[in-house]
Amino acid sequence: MIRMKSTRSFMFLICPMLVLIFLYYSSGRLHLRTSVQKSQARLDSLHSVGRVVAPGMTTWRGKQSFSSFIAHQSFLPEYDKQGFLTKLDRKLPLELQYKYGNLSKGECKPGYTEAKMTLIYPKFSKPAPMFLDPNFKRLSKISSYPPPFGVRTQEKIIDHILSATKSYSLGSELDSLSCKKCIIIGNGGILYNKSLGSKIDQYDVVVRLNEAPVAGFEKDVGSKTTMRITYPEGAIQKPERYEKSSLFVFSAFKAMDFKWLRHMVFKDKLRTMEGFWKSVARVVPRDPEDMRILNPYFIQEAAFKFIGLPHNRGLMGRGNIPTLGTVAITMALHNCDEVAVAGFGYDMNTPHAPLHYYEKLKMSAIKESWTHNISKEKEFLRKLVMGGVIQDLTNGI
Ligand SMILES: *[C@@H]1O[C@H](CO)[C@@H](O)[C@H](O)[C@H]1NC(C)=O
Ligand SMILES: *[C@@H]1O[C@H](CO)[C@@H](O)[C@H](O)[C@H]1NC(C)=O
Ligand SMILES: *[C@@H]1O[C@H](CO)[C@@H](O)[C@H](O)[C@H]1NC(C)=O
Repeated sequence: MIRMKSTRSFMFLICPMLVLIFLYYSSGRLHLRTSVQKSQARLDSLHSVGRVVAPGMTTWRGKQSFSSFIAHQSFLPEYDKQGFLTKLDRKLPLELQYKYGNLSKGECKPGYTEAKMTLIYPKFSKPAPMFLDPNFKRLSKISSYPPPFGVRTQEKIIDHILSATKSYSLGSELDSLSCKKCIIIGNGGILYNKSLGSKIDQYDVVVRLNEAPVAGFEKDVGSKTTMRITYPEGAIQKPERYEKSSLFVFSAFKAMDFKWLRHMVFKDKLRTMEGFWKSVARVVPRDPEDMRILNPYFIQEAAFKFIGLPHNRGLMGRGNIPTLGTVAITMALHNCDEVAVAGFGYDMNTPHAPLHYYEKLKMSAIKESWTHNISKEKEFLRKLVMGGVIQDLTNGI
């Protein structure tokens, strides 16, 4: 009798306890699950907006959920050594979607390149004039480096040249545009037989490099040339091959190059070829007013900031000179509202493809270059394409 009573009271005690334990346990799990779901929902909404909202971080920190902790960790924007966002996509953030939403398709988007560049590279600072003008000594970034990264030691000869050219901009018609679309035409065989000519001619500013021909290739490369950027060894040598109206834009890679330019501007005969690595043009059939000096800051910025080539105390050295194409793209990032490229990129896997769109030289003719670092440079250009900063019409980058 006494035994049965104690068993029953034990049962009375144990049952509510079991119920309580069950309730406590299941409510705990329930709580955990909702917190995971909540932070997941939060993440999804952030993903769709495409950017990080800092205040959200305090909400997450209070929760115990491990998975939201992990998600939070991987969601902080990460940057590589050069300062570029590591996770790139071409999606437009909401504020830009709103800003450009009302423009019709193909219409020039003011400030687009700068906005996209700043998203993937927050250190970007836009102001940098295309060409040197008589105030160039005030540009502090170029005054401490000799060529190719600056103007040190060349100040007097540049003053002399600029006193003759007298013009330092794109010209009144292009200067007055409130929005400019620019395209840089690389010389790659990838342009061949793609019939991009009429599309290329629609850009406000068409930039060509060195001796890349237009006549006879209009169907693929267009017929408009706003400027031709060149260095002495790359310049067109036959006077009759210069197009009638385009700016002759000079880019110096060594001190000797400015001497050459002075000869071309003042039309005095070049007597020696010493100091050049191949034969150079002896005349440039252009009025001084149609000649410009490219701001060497673009070489400096491309080499040391964007690509991350060896600094070598600011002197030309092994593998630290960007190619002219990348220098031209860097110039456009600072001076155009939208930037496109075509004819860039080599495909090393197809050695029989043409190297240039205008000659029979094959891919396999390209040698490992002493001055350039093609593979590192391509990494940079890929970031611009992946981040939607520039548009690559031939998909070679
Ligand atoms: C776009 O157009 C709508 C309707 O015309 C207008 O309400 C809105 O303010 C415009 N947005 C911008 C960014 O101009
Ligand atoms: C150029 O492209 C067209 C089609 O777009 C093709 O029929 C032709 O064979 C191509 N020519 C060469 C030389 O590749
Ligand atoms: C290019 O850069 C890579 C990585 O920094 C380096 O290993 C290689 O030697 C460089 N090439 C040249 C030609 O300097």
